[in-house]
Amino acid sequence: MKERLLKIRETATEMIESSSSLKELEDLRIKFLGKKGELTDILKGMGKLSKEERPEMGKVSNEVRSHIETMLSNIKETLEKEALNAKLKSEVIDVTLPASKVNVGNKHPLMKVFDELQDIFLGMGYKIAEGPEVETVYNAFDALNSPDDHPSRSTSDTFYFAPDICLRPHTSSVQIRTMQNQKPPIKVISPGRCFRFDELDATHSPMFHQLEGLVVDENVTMADLKGALDLFVKRFFGSNIKTKFRPHHFPFTEPSAEVDVTCFKCGGVGCKVCGGTGWIEILGCGMVHPEVLEECGIDSEKYSGFAFGMGVDRITMLKYEIEDIRYLFENDMRMIDQF
Ligand code: DAH
Repeated sequence: MKERLLKIRETATEMIESSSSLKELEDLRIKFLGKKGELTDILKGMGKLSKEERPEMGKVSNEVRSHIETMLSNIKETLEKEALNAKLKSEVIDVTLPASKVNVGNKHPLMKVFDELQDIFLGMGYKIAEGPEVETVYNAFDALNSPDDHPSRSTSDTFYFAPDICLRPHTSSVQIRTMQNQKPPIKVISPGRCFRFDELDATHSPMFHQLEGLVVDENVTMADLKGALDLFVKRFFGSNIKTKFRPHHFPFTEPSAEVDVTCFKCGGVGCKVCGGTGWIEILGCGMVHPEVLEECGIDSEKYSGFAFGMGVDRITMLKYEIEDIRYLFENDMRMIDQF
């Protein structure tokens, strides 16, 4: 029995020393020390030994077992170290290399301006109203008090699908939808896309964006309109900016005005942005025409309102000094990288 034990010790030593992988080592552990292993097999025969022989054999077998265990753990350690070294060598990281550029997503300047406009008006208590881009001629023109012969109705100005259906040429059509579906007090803005039969050039695009505003309640006056727009302008362009209301004409408002602001670039002295005048026109507005209120079922004796509409592309171009409206729509990545 002793010889068998010593033989196992010898073979195990040889085999463990020459093993070259962790898998091989594990197989050897099972072969010699496992439940059905060779050493266990011999120990099963211990019962047959005499009392005197047993302690001696116990000692030898313990020594053999612990020798094999030590061998296994030593070689295992060596193999693991080798594996780690090989791995580290194959994964050398040069920390001095410049980092590769990470492209972080960014909002389009037009969307940034829309977000900012909406934040300002929501902060002033306005709600958002939406309407479709394909609109009835009634909502886009008739109900807005537009005369039958108004040039904006012509097929050279507006896109028609049918005599009574068009692509909305302004967001003012949402005023009509809102007043027909809601009772005063009304306080809404409606941002959205509009379409006109315009030749594409640096300042015109057949598709563009507007933001419309509408307030209807009892005793709404031109002073409320001026106050609201002045506050908006100061929040959007800066607290030092002045507004100027210039008389104008729109069929759906009376009186009507256009609003100019002092140039936020030069402060009113005159520069490229304001075309040397010191003023920049930013929107149209006025008191909602009584005919428009009545057409929507609102009593014009009891209620009055104001409305305004601005070109969001134009405001974006002014704010970010983008010289050509086409840059906004050409999918040039610089539009979202630079601003
Ligand atoms: N709808 C006008 C346009 O497209 C802009 C406008 C002017 C809207 C005056 C209004 C307004 O609500 O009161 O040019």
